[in-house]
Amino acid sequence: MTVPTVKLNSGYDIPQLGFGVFLVPPAEAEKAVSEALEVGYRHIDTAAIYKNEEGVGAAIAASGIPRDELFITTKLWNDRQAGDEPNAAIAESLEKLGLDYVDLYLTHWPAPKNDNYSHAWQKMIEVRDQGLTRSIGVSNHLPEHLDRIVAETGVTPAVDQVELHPAYQQADVRAWGDANGMKIESWGPLGQGKYPLFENPAVVAAAEAHGVSPAQAVIRWHLQRGTIVFPKSTRIERMRENFDVFGFELTAAEVDAITAIDPGDGSGRVGTHPNDLN
Ligand SMILES: NC(=O)c1ccc[n+]([C@@H]2O[C@H](COP(=O)([O-])OP(=O)(O)OC[C@H]3O[C@@H](n4cnc5c(N)ncnc54)[C@H](OP(=O)(O)O)[C@@H]3O)[C@@H](O)[C@H]2O)c1
Repeated sequence: MTVPTVKLNSGYDIPQLGFGVFLVPPAEAEKAVSEALEVGYRHIDTAAIYKNEEGVGAAIAASGIPRDELFITTKLWNDRQAGDEPNAAIAESLEKLGLDYVDLYLTHWPAPKNDNYSHAWQKMIEVRDQGLTRSIGVSNHLPEHLDRIVAETGVTPAVDQVELHPAYQQADVRAWGDANGMKIESWGPLGQGKYPLFENPAVVAAAEAHGVSPAQAVIRWHLQRGTIVFPKSTRIERMRENFDVFGFELTAAEVDAITAIDPGDGSGRVGTHPNDLN
């Protein structure tokens, strides 16, 4: 199965569907990622703070899959934004992953009270120029943070990875991305299981119309709206289910009905507000 790709502002292509490993325990990461690679995923989303980069790296090494067929993302944790810490942090991540470069390196949160995120972005540019990552981006950045880092460096992130699922759709960040050539990655694409998304009538109706599961309908909704998505599961049957989303297409009305789930007042957020995590 060929997963569609999205062209980043760096010129590199990213597979639009990947596999995320947040909350995959370190001891289980090699098995989970090995199974995901076996299912067909080629895009893996990890982070230093997930403490499972070694397991991801072990699975990559054992897979024998050529490096250029993989797309690996990792992230700089908030306490390493200052000074030359970002340079040290990416070196440590690469060591753990067993790689010479990652495909995408992200600043994990702006952590604005520390006021280091623009400096960290400057450092991301430096490590990209050193060849340690092919593309650079950010995560959990609001338009105010994006405006500042671009104003201070002249470099637009390839992606902003933000909480995005039917009840919380980040219209302002998406609009910023559309206006500036930055792609959006949806974290928590299934709402992290924190609200009854799979019982929502619009999701159930779309799933039943196509003979698929509610999770498959939601993943398809993300893909058809152009966002990059990497649902997490440690169960191989769900990894297969979440990957098997290219044999059907939601109608425009079904996409619109799922889009209408967002109450539009921010109450659908399941994670932390970016200005509150420092
Ligand atoms: N940048 C950030 O700040 C940030 C924050 C959070 C996440 N992320 C990234 O985004 C990725 C995805 O987000 P997420 O893991 O938080 O949440 P998610 O993918 O929305 O949801 C994962 C949850 O859904 C369950 N699930 C997965 N597939 C399912 C299916 N087909 N049917 C029913 N339940 C299913 C999983 O359980 P089982 O494992 O038991 O199947 C798990 O409890 C992460 O792994 C990480 O890479 C980034």
